[in-house]
Order: sequence, then structure tokens, then C-alpha cells
Amino acid sequence: MAQYTFEPFKIKSVEAIPLTTREEREQWIADAGYNIFRLPSRAVTIDFLTDSGTSAMSDHQWAGMLEGDEAYAGSHNYFHLQQVVRDLFGFEQFVPTHQGRGAEQVLFNVLVKPGNIVPNNTHFDTTRANIEAIGGVALDLVIPEGLDPTNRHPFKGNMHLANLEQTIERVGVENIPLAMMTITNNAVGGQPVSLANIRATKELLARYKIPFFIDACRYAENCYFIQQREDGYRHKSIPEIAREIFSYADGFTMSAKKDGLVNIGGLLAARDPGLFEKIQNRLILTEGFISYGGLARRDLEAMARGLLEATDEKYLAYRIGQVRYLAERLLEMGIPIVEPPGGHAVFLDAKRFLPHIPQSQFPALALTIALYLEGGIRAVEIGSVMFAKQDPATGETRYAALELVRLAIPRRVYTQSHLDYVAEVIGEVYRQREAIRGVKIVWEAPLLRHFTAKFEMV
Ligand SMILES: Cc1ncc(COP(=O)(O)O)c(C=O)c1O
Repeated sequence: MAQYTFEPFKIKSVEAIPLTTREEREQWIADAGYNIFRLPSRAVTIDFLTDSGTSAMSDHQWAGMLEGDEAYAGSHNYFHLQQVVRDLFGFEQFVPTHQGRGAEQVLFNVLVKPGNIVPNNTHFDTTRANIEAIGGVALDLVIPEGLDPTNRHPFKGNMHLANLEQTIERVGVENIPLAMMTITNNAVGGQPVSLANIRATKELLARYKIPFFIDACRYAENCYFIQQREDGYRHKSIPEIAREIFSYADGFTMSAKKDGLVNIGGLLAARDPGLFEKIQNRLILTEGFISYGGLARRDLEAMARGLLEATDEKYLAYRIGQVRYLAERLLEMGIPIVEPPGGHAVFLDAKRFLPHIPQSQFPALALTIALYLEGGIRAVEIGSVMFAKQDPATGETRYAALELVRLAIPRRVYTQSHLDYVAEVIGEVYRQREAIRGVKIVWEAPLLRHFTAKFEMV
């Protein structure tokens, strides 16, 4: 039987969960054009759409919000955040940003030129989009194990070092203004990167004098995986592991909406003084002054406190344990998922769950709709609705490599009985899987269609 790790907190304030009937859900989802992004949250019982900005803050963070010093410049909350960034990550120069993509926008606008290549283990979609918006090329170089849903490699998020070196040799150092490493690697399932791989990536890039930046939004979850899985780190604390990771970086971007345990906020840090000056200038132009970066100062205080809370080992054991618990309950029922589960989500493998639905009828979306109808669970399709592309030469559709449904678990929000409910609903959907029908698109936008498209059941 799957073991559940006790929640290391008790509940002080509660928010009612909408409980709906099947008839109501049928109406809601039809009105939403069968697109879960169009559902109002009051129609959703368990919201697993994202782990980003959906965490519950602690009483200590809320108390910090009341201590917001809303000075335009030099607020004491900024100095507190500065102290935390220095202690935890070893960076003297940083700016706050309104969220992760704010940091990306600032960094890439000062570093990337049209035609430049930016390698990463795997770019998150906003990272890719911000590079492409400038005319750059975002290159994914994850190890092949990362793309195999049944491979149980402990660090499936790792960079493919040989491919990175080949890329540098092929395109030339002068065309690579920076390389990145996303920890954990969200796009392949929140899979961790080992410290050995981070160190080796740094050594390789240093030989070519290419700046190394970390996309650090799930840094604490990645540190915990290193502590649990990598030789030599079992007795190191999470802050010690974080210090070592960031000691290899020339800078980092961070969406604090994940392991910063806040509902809004981000960070951008860089060691090079010339680069940092350009970052500050661009920040003032687009985000805000350097001591607030588009945030209220109370948000800086919540972020400073949240960044530290996320390094608490008892919290991380519960957090990673909660994701593992749901994964194990599903595996006990024979339900196909991406293994091993990553740090922030469980991914259902819709190709194996619904083998009777062809990719042209979007099996992962069909499964997402079935989860909502059965139990009011909002998950998200990560498959061909999101990633299929038309071949410009032949007009043929190239479907996504994987058809996944992501159940992203917000931090400190749901309890064991919520996860048991989710497992039971998915078990019921699995028993009735042969009756699930595919989906067709009836309307789509030209870009990022998954957010707004409308569908019909086939
Ligand atoms: C790995 C990664 N990088 C960057 C971002 C962008 O952050 P934000 O949503 O705060 O703009 C995200 C958000 O999900 C992410 O997962």
C-alpha cells in the first residue's frame, strides 16, 4: 500500500471547495467548449491545472505581508530579500521581477540577438517563446531517458552533455550568448537534474566561456531529489546543496510562484557587473524600479520568507511524498503514468490509458474531459492540442511525441483525503475507459491554441 507522508502543518484558514453534480458538470464543460481553461474555478472541485502561484502561504508569510514597507525605493523588505538571495544562492546582484517570464524577458532582451542559439536541458514554453520573440533559437538537449515515460532513470531531467558540446562546435561560441539548465525539468515531467550533471555542464561551458544560467523555479524540490538520490549528498542540508548548485551559475531566472511559495513574484540574478547594469536598465524600462521589479513590497517580504520555508526538509519530504503517494496509488490500480513521478505533478500516459483513441482525436484531452465529468478534477492536456504542428511543405500534421495529462499539485493546499478522492475518480474513469470518446477541434486561435480552442466530442 502507498505510504502517505504526514502534512507538517495544521489548517488555520479554510476555503470552501465547490461540490457539483454530474449534470452541472456536463453543462459547465459543454458551455466551456470542452476546454478546461474556459471553466470558472467555481465549477472545479480539485484544481490540478498548475502548481504555479497556487500555493498556500504560511501564517509567517501573511504576517510578513502586513509588514510591507511600500516605499518606492529602498524598502526594508527588499533588503530582507537581498539577504535571503545572498545566503541561499550566494548572489550579490539580483532584481525582483513580477514573475518568471518577466525575468526571462529582461535577460534575453539584453543578451540574445536574432539568430542566436540558447541551449537548455528543456526550455519551458515561456522561456522558449521569449527567446523566439527576439529571433533566437531555443534548443532542447535533454538526455533520451527524459523522453521515455517508462524509463526509471533517477535524474531524467539531465542535460545531454555530448549533444551540448557538439552543438557548440557546430554553431560556434559566438552564436551562443548563454546556456541554461531548468531545475527541475518541468517540460519532461518535473524530473530532477543531478549535481554531477550541473557541475559537468558548468565545466563544459566554462571551457568555451559561455555564461551558464539556471531556470531555478523548482530549485528546492531539485535539491531534495539530489539529497535522496545522489551519492555523497545524503548528509548535506538543502541550503548546502542549493549553495553548491548556484555556485556553478553565472546567473539565474526564477518564477517564485513555485518554490518561492508565493502567489506572484520572480527573481533575476547575474554575477557579471556589466551585464547586471544592462539588466537594471531594462528592468526599469519594463518591470519597475530595481528595488521592487513590478511587485508590491509586501510581496517581496512573502517571497523572502517563502524561499526559506521551501528549504525545510520536513516540508519537502511531505511535498515530494504527496506526489509520490498519488503516483503509487494509481500504479497499484495498473494505471499508466510517467515513471518515476517528478517533483510537482503526476502525468497520466493517455496513449496507454486510451489506446482506442487515435492522436487525431486528442486522447489526452479526451481523458482530461473524462476526469472533469467524473469528479470535477481539472487537469491539463500536454499532448497534441498543445504541441501538434503542421508540416509547412506537405501540410501534414505532426502529432506530439507524448500524449500526457498533467495533474499538477499546488503546494500545501490539498490533504491526503483529497488525493484519495482523486485516485478513486481516476480509478473509476480507468474502469470505464473503453466508453471514452475522442474530441475534434471546432475553433482555434492561430497561436497557443490550447488556451482558447473549442471542441466537440466525436
Ligand atoms: C521551468 C519554468 N520556467 C519558467 C516559468 C515561467 O514562470 P511564470 O509563470 O512565473 O512567468 C515556469 C512557469 O510555469 C516554469 O515552470
